[in-house]
Amino acid sequence: MSENNDEKPPQNDAPDPDARSEDEKGYSDNPEGPGLNMSMWVILGMGLACSLCSAIAFAVFMLRSTTQVVKGRPFWRSGKARAPEAVVSQGESASQCSQLEMRTMEALGQAWLEDGEAEHASIAAFADLQLRLLALGAPRALLSETASAIQDEIRHGEFCYRQASTYTDKRYQPGAIRISGSRSGGLGPRSLRLGFVALESLFDGCLNEGIAAKIAKQASQRCKPGLSGALAKIAADEAAHGELAWKIVEWAASEGGALTTALLKRGVKRLETMEPSNQAEPTKISMELWLLEGQARQNDLVSAFYVQRRELLERMTDLLQPRRITASAA
Ligand SMILES: [Fe+2]
Ligand SMILES: [Fe+2]
Repeated sequence: MSENNDEKPPQNDAPDPDARSEDEKGYSDNPEGPGLNMSMWVILGMGLACSLCSAIAFAVFMLRSTTQVVKGRPFWRSGKARAPEAVVSQGESASQCSQLEMRTMEALGQAWLEDGEAEHASIAAFADLQLRLLALGAPRALLSETASAIQDEIRHGEFCYRQASTYTDKRYQPGAIRISGSRSGGLGPRSLRLGFVALESLFDGCLNEGIAAKIAKQASQRCKPGLSGALAKIAADEAAHGELAWKIVEWAASEGGALTTALLKRGVKRLETMEPSNQAEPTKISMELWLLEGQARQNDLVSAFYVQRRELLERMTDLLQPRRITASAA
């Protein structure tokens, strides 16, 4: 084995770092240590102020546009709830039945298809949430529960698409869902990003998944026996998703400081003034068959909303008491 003792020539062409001007280095000759010079502080400060302003403006936009009373967790993009397009194929013909039953079956197929699309969109919403929780350094327990929720939503979607196919001569599968665009931005200080996640969890999780749980539970108690077990399981899953959302709100409030708390207070104001939108009840159908087949009345959503909101406002009042936030942050 030979040893290479050749000495390398000195790298004389490399610039001497000490020979650079103060501007190039970005340091001042501060005797207390190196620091940024004044112009760089100004540029940094302006940049930070701009991103903070745009992030707060985004929070206000989010509160106005993406807080709606719906069943389950929506997948928001550019202020709209996005869902996949169904892939439809031909199946067996529906059995012979009366005109009223035919109309009811058609409406049931459409309702279960919409439920399937909403459940499938929830997969995207949780996947997106999980990435943002990771970026915020969330505890492993929250990440783990979010991963379980993704699995739940996959099962819920599968169940709903299968249900939709039983009432028509069509077979449905979820198509691709567009995920481009940003939900809550990745810019701004951590306390602001924690505020976004807390607001999202408050409305999409605590409120809307709580509503979904109540509606599914009620449906499970009046549907035909063959469906009640599946609906009761969905109700329990959605209730767990609502509780997961609450844990995220509590964690974000304890970590985020004054800015997160201020955003949550805005969220409470929005919650107090929200009203469910009027959606028409399906007409010219057999309501008895509709309920037996596991669907809900429009009024179920309205009453579930008022109960859920009352419970949530009580929890928020308790959470936002100064001693409570200070204690959980300690
Ligand atoms: Fe679900
Ligand atoms: Fe859910």
